[in-house]
Amino acid sequence: MPVRPNRDLRGRTVVITGGSSGIGRACALEFGAAGCTVVISGRRPEPLAQTRAELEARGVRCLAVPTDVRSREQVYALRDAALAASGKLDIWVNNAGYGMVARFEELCAEDLEAIWRTNLMGSFHGCQAALEPMRRQGHGHIMNVSSLAGRYALPLNAAYAASKHALNALGQSLGAELEGSGIDVTTVMPGLTDTGFFAAMVDKVGPTGTHLVRAMPAEVVARAMVRCARRPRERVVFAPGGAATLALAEVFPIIFRTIARQYVKVRLSGRKE
Ligand SMILES: NC(=O)c1ccc[n+]([C@@H]2O[C@H](COP(=O)([O-])OP(=O)(O)OC[C@H]3O[C@@H](n4cnc5c(N)ncnc54)[C@H](OP(=O)(O)O)[C@@H]3O)[C@@H](O)[C@H]2O)c1
Repeated sequence: MPVRPNRDLRGRTVVITGGSSGIGRACALEFGAAGCTVVISGRRPEPLAQTRAELEARGVRCLAVPTDVRSREQVYALRDAALAASGKLDIWVNNAGYGMVARFEELCAEDLEAIWRTNLMGSFHGCQAALEPMRRQGHGHIMNVSSLAGRYALPLNAAYAASKHALNALGQSLGAELEGSGIDVTTVMPGLTDTGFFAAMVDKVGPTGTHLVRAMPAEVVARAMVRCARRPRERVVFAPGGAATLALAEVFPIIFRTIARQYVKVRLSGRKE
């Protein structure tokens, strides 16, 4: 089979939700370095302005559009601003999201609805907004930033894991539907990453200073995403030990149960009942 050349990203337009911090910010810098025009969005104006200034200082063509992904209107306005600025839309990254840890009995319906609105519905709005111009162009790439929690639901993570499992399903179904259309869909599943995620997380269990595995720098995720934009894949998975760990965990469920038990021990240590 002939090997397809890597896509040249120079001059491409990429929209990144949650592009003001963490993985989104690292993506903005990496896509900018690859020669893309970068459109970043987020709710808070200060980190958005800071990231924009950082991009512009590196000579990257950049637009910052304050957006709350829970609002379909705002997501469409973000899409329209990107189109007005560059006339096209090549890559759309649904990255905005947050975490939640809680014992199952301590979750309320509002917690689930709230995380669903950002982590799933925000990406749903993004996919639909991006699809219109991508269909017209006959090409495009949608990347949904999910999580390993989209594959393995650790205890105390029911709300977050459910939102990311749903996001994985959305991406898998959409990708299959778009086969042959020229539009690629990728589900990105990072593991523990060193970002503002843990500060922003809704934590009903109580903070813990310890994690089971060492967090990766956000740049590692961002670089893999840029590689995937050059050579699209259905999934980009980050697991300690790589794909082999995931394959082993599928065959031997005891591995997941052992990690789950350890996670609960670490997470609940120091909690006052
Ligand atoms: N860090 C990890 O260990 C890890 C692991 C796996 C997956 N992930 C996923 O990676 C993605 C990025 O998270 P991160 O680790 O980079 O955390 P982060 O540093 O907290 O970044 C989250 C970004 O999302 C934005 N955001 C949150 N809610 C939003 C909303 N309603 N509308 C628009 N933007 C919103 C935030 O900006 P504003 O607050 O200003 O809106 C921020 O820019 C998330 O989807 C997360 O689930 C993270």
